[in-house]
Amino acid sequence: MKVVKTIEEVRNQVKEWRKQGLTVGLVPTMGYLHEGHASLIEASHRDNGRTVVSDFVNPMQFAPTEDLESYPRDIELDSAVVEAHGGDIIFNPEPEEMYHDDFSSFVDMTVLTEELCGLSRPIHFRGVCTVVAKLFNIVKPDRAYFGKKDAQQLAVIRHMVDDLNMDIEIIGCPIVREPDGLAKSSRNTYLSETERKSALILSESIFMGMDMVRNGEKNCSVIVNSMKEHINTEPLAKIDYVKIVDCKTMQQIPELDRPALCAIAVYIGKTRLIDNFFTEDV
Ligand code: PAF
Repeated sequence: MKVVKTIEEVRNQVKEWRKQGLTVGLVPTMGYLHEGHASLIEASHRDNGRTVVSDFVNPMQFAPTEDLESYPRDIELDSAVVEAHGGDIIFNPEPEEMYHDDFSSFVDMTVLTEELCGLSRPIHFRGVCTVVAKLFNIVKPDRAYFGKKDAQQLAVIRHMVDDLNMDIEIIGCPIVREPDGLAKSSRNTYLSETERKSALILSESIFMGMDMVRNGEKNCSVIVNSMKEHINTEPLAKIDYVKIVDCKTMQQIPELDRPALCAIAVYIGKTRLIDNFFTEDV
């Protein structure tokens, strides 16, 4: 299992695999890999001859006030995870390799990025779309794998691939949770012991929302308000949003009369965590 730093190296490797008739899967990550990433790598390993894992903390998707500097990094840990779960190569470029000095082309998206995380992180999805489009052009995978925890990101990427006629199949993989319910995230490492306990309020409210849907509740305000009330019982939690949106357009809906996404973002202390459920998965 190799770690490569340059675009040329990863392209040459993929060309060799293509000559051997192998299909290629891409798992885009920002590193500090956990079981959620491992499940994406395993899915790619199952579906493809070879798997590239990109490991790049993309500066373009962080606002100046966000956690770019403190974002956890550990290439040795990542290499062990990739190797153990069937990945074949890690692409771990430096920022200068991805963005040269006069870099000036961006992939931007309207509508889908106007709600949820797009509202609280206005430049985020432009950074995500740009880097993912670059990774797609560099690796030219048959399939690419993304976690459903970043549900809006998954919808945005699917839309970008469709809009820009990118010939890549996008596979969304289920959220992986800790045994007590907390969704796996590299940002969970920011939590103190007390905050880690408080963070359970996210999954608790998600499970509560799922139960309400299972029991036939169709009114989105009723579901959202109950979830908000529950989150507000936790003193360390501060709600960024709790919303129910149309799965495709990411616009809020009043009634559960179509496939929908219920998504939440909550600060636990200074750490912003997200979680969600798709009504179709309930
Ligand atoms: O989900 C992530 O880790 C990142 O947003 C991604 C898709 C790797 C782009 O930097």
